[in-house]
Amino acid sequence: MLTYRKATFDDLSFMIEIEKKSFNDIDRFESYQIKHFIKNPHNSIITDIILINENKVGWATFFTKRDQNSIRLYTFCIDPIYRGKGYGKEYLKSRLKNFSTKFKKIFLEVRQSNYSAITLYQSLGFKTTRILKNYYLNEDGIKMELYF
Ligand SMILES: CC(C)(COP(=O)(O)OP(=O)(O)OC[C@H]1O[C@@H](n2cnc3c(N)ncnc32)[C@H](O)[C@@H]1OP(=O)(O)O)[C@@H](O)C(=O)NCCC(=O)NCCS
Repeated sequence: MLTYRKATFDDLSFMIEIEKKSFNDIDRFESYQIKHFIKNPHNSIITDIILINENKVGWATFFTKRDQNSIRLYTFCIDPIYRGKGYGKEYLKSRLKNFSTKFKKIFLEVRQSNYSAITLYQSLGFKTTRILKNYYLNEDGIKMELYF
């Protein structure tokens, strides 16, 4: 069964490990940034640990905007050994349902070459709204949005 819960400092080493396996050096966060996501000093960050039968399989961070109308998917990764089993989609589906009662829209940025992530977001109803020139220094990004 898939569930999720708020990340704590006990999850830090797991989060760093999955990050390393999921992103290249340019996109990876430093541990102080991941600590900041967990600490959530201004009460504007949501960081989830994704669980399958209580085993950690991934994590995600969202930033709420000051206007409170929109939320941004900031980072999201599933452990490579658990990918392609529908867990990422099931988690986001459930999170989106929850956010739809609180926000008007969710948006994100993704590398244009990240086919699996783009396909996943499209399957949940996200639409491409902008091409972000050189957003990743070496590559264009795509901005995707979903109105609830
Ligand atoms: C993106 C990511 C989180 C998806 O997690 P996942 O659990 O593997 O995804 P799912 O198994 O739930 O797949 C859901 C859908 O995504 C798409 N998808 C997933 N992997 C895919 C692949 N390798 N090729 C094509 N489409 C893929 C499919 O549409 C799939 O639906 P389907 O199985 O019904 O066809 C995972 O691949 C990951 O951690 N990638 C590295 C980090 C990353 O790029 N994060 C996103 C940054 S914006």
